[in-house]
Amino acid sequence: MKILAIETSCDETAIALVEANGGLMAPKFKIFKSVVTSQIKIHRPFGGVVPNLAKREHLKNLPILLRRIENKEFRIEECDLIAVTVGPGLEPALWAGITFAQELAKRYKKPLLGVSHLEGHLYSFLLPRKRMKNEGYRVKDLFPAVALIVSGGHTILLKVENLAKWKKLGETRDDAVGEAFDKVARLLKLPYPGGPEIEKLSKKGNPTAVNFPRPMIYEKNYDFSFSGLKTSVLYYVRDNKKTKNEDVAASFQQAAVEVLTRKTMRAAKEFKVKSVLLSGGVATNQALRKNLERATRTEEIIFLAAERKYNTDNAVMIAAAGYMDFLRKKKYPLKANGNLGI
Ligand code: KG4
Ligand code: ZN
Repeated sequence: MKILAIETSCDETAIALVEANGGLMAPKFKIFKSVVTSQIKIHRPFGGVVPNLAKREHLKNLPILLRRIENKEFRIEECDLIAVTVGPGLEPALWAGITFAQELAKRYKKPLLGVSHLEGHLYSFLLPRKRMKNEGYRVKDLFPAVALIVSGGHTILLKVENLAKWKKLGETRDDAVGEAFDKVARLLKLPYPGGPEIEKLSKKGNPTAVNFPRPMIYEKNYDFSFSGLKTSVLYYVRDNKKTKNEDVAASFQQAAVEVLTRKTMRAAKEFKVKSVLLSGGVATNQALRKNLERATRTEEIIFLAAERKYNTDNAVMIAAAGYMDFLRKKKYPLKANGNLGI
């Protein structure tokens, strides 16, 4: 089936056209077209995303992106389903996507499904990757699994039984890890969003220069906490003006990556999983990917993450989640829900 997907939960406006088939046992996706426009420049002067500005930009960008999706080979008439993110996220921003999707569905008489942004991230490991040709895993080879979702708003560890059933093992008690990257970047006078900037700066720094705390790393639960780590960086920078910013960045990144890796691997071993699934904006971080790759290899556990461009917000993952919801007969109300859980 052909799915047209729309994502506007935060500061990226995204539309994708994806063909899905294979059912719950072997879902496969072919990406026809994926367009994303980022509003980073507009929000940058404010140091974070301004919800009403985001909404205005989404409303302006959506028709432009739709025209870029439509071409000689594709007309909206041909799609079988429209999927739109209904939460979690910024409610004004979400409403922009929902109302746009509702108008399209009405005009072209297409079924419309509300989709969870977090399930979009979760399912992103199913998207085609360049390396996939020789991976050849069947879905049933992968479960049980643990999934780590790390983004600007969330840090969640799930135990995943199969493509339709999972349980939350833990989550952050305060800041999300992406938020910590953004806040530390601001301390170091780097622009928003901070994650990619910290990663870039860290490449020039020494990750063992400063021994920042690894919050909750040995606690026998699957929760996280990143606000104390951020505060340690704040005090350290205030009191140690001579330490190079690249060393602070690399040491902070190392602390965050170690906590995420250690806790994920503890869950992986406890539940004897076959795979670890990594997703969300912070999953583009190469230090985190490498660490998890190394740790899973030692334990002979499969490690899967989407290509980097499908970890930050995009509509391809929303199409994937839309297909899974369609198969699972799961329907989220077509209403913005800023706090929609997983
Ligand atoms: O999933 P996402 O695009 O949006 C949300 O759903 O939140 O994640 C955005 C978050 C931001 O906090 C951003 O700083 C972080 O992901 N991020 C990174 C990297 N790229 C994006 N964090 C660490 N390293 C990166 N390379
Ligand atoms: Zn996201």
